[in-house]
Amino acid sequence: MTRLAGKLSGKTALITGAARGIGLAFAKAYVAEGARVAIADIDIARARLAATEIGAAAIAVELDVTDQASIDRAVDETAERLGGIDILINNAAIFTAAPLVEITRDDFERAFAINVSGTLFMMQAVAQHMIARGQGGKIINMASQAGRRGEPLVAVYCATKAAVISLTQSAGLNLISQGINVNAIAPGVVEGEHWEGVDAFFAKYENKPLGQKKKEVGEAVPFGRMGRAEDLTGMAVFLATPEADYIVAQTYNVDGGQWMS
Ligand SMILES: NC(=O)c1ccc[n+]([C@@H]2O[C@H](COP(=O)([O-])OP(=O)(O)OC[C@H]3O[C@@H](n4cnc5c(N)ncnc54)[C@H](O)[C@@H]3O)[C@@H](O)[C@H]2O)c1
Repeated sequence: MTRLAGKLSGKTALITGAARGIGLAFAKAYVAEGARVAIADIDIARARLAATEIGAAAIAVELDVTDQASIDRAVDETAERLGGIDILINNAAIFTAAPLVEITRDDFERAFAINVSGTLFMMQAVAQHMIARGQGGKIINMASQAGRRGEPLVAVYCATKAAVISLTQSAGLNLISQGINVNAIAPGVVEGEHWEGVDAFFAKYENKPLGQKKKEVGEAVPFGRMGRAEDLTGMAVFLATPEADYIVAQTYNVDGGQWMS
């Protein structure tokens, strides 16, 4: 029996921070739709495990999005091994939280280096490749509901995600003339190792037992539960297809009804 062509057949994607969590779910969903993917992560050991688990359609690429030489190497390596890059997902990020009076410069600078500069300079390096190749492309940035409004204990992370929404708008308007669509996804609260860390922050600062914050946020989602990485894959696939060609510089909430804008 012949296999039906996937929505991303013949496409190649570089996904940052894809060794685990949402990025790994994106990699699996893209491969299921016929794409080949580069799992680009600072945790190269785990990226290799993920690529081995997925199989021949996935490669592991070492990447630190805070380091320009590492970005350039990862983009070149991916383009060479996969024969070009059609899709970039800027997914790598860190979470941080603290009351305003306890925020440190180191924490602020690290979060902005990964979440904001990392997103910008990955877009730049991949856009240069896409423009030189002349076939357009799709760029998807991971924003967050945290980028839609501030939160009392999450000033820095919220500001990084607001910056991702803003960069998506400017880059989207700038690059569409080259046939490159830039859009973003804003998840709400998504289960996984990332949220274990978030829960631990709130346990400390809101004096809650471990697991309590997670339970509260899950119950507060209109859909009735926390998100799962797989809840986001439909949007990530759609934004990478020609059906989304007319969508430019937008940020989509995929959050079970948490935020409307
Ligand atoms: N989980 C949530 O509740 C949630 C909600 C809203 C938005 N998001 C966003 O979705 C994205 C994925 O979230 P997740 O929950 O899967 O996160 P995660 O923490 O599970 O995974 C992040 C990945 O990024 C990698 N990474 C960290 N620093 C890096 C660097 N300097 N260079 C390259 N890779 C690096 C990590 O090794 C890890 O594999 C992030 O942008 C996050 O901000 C997550």
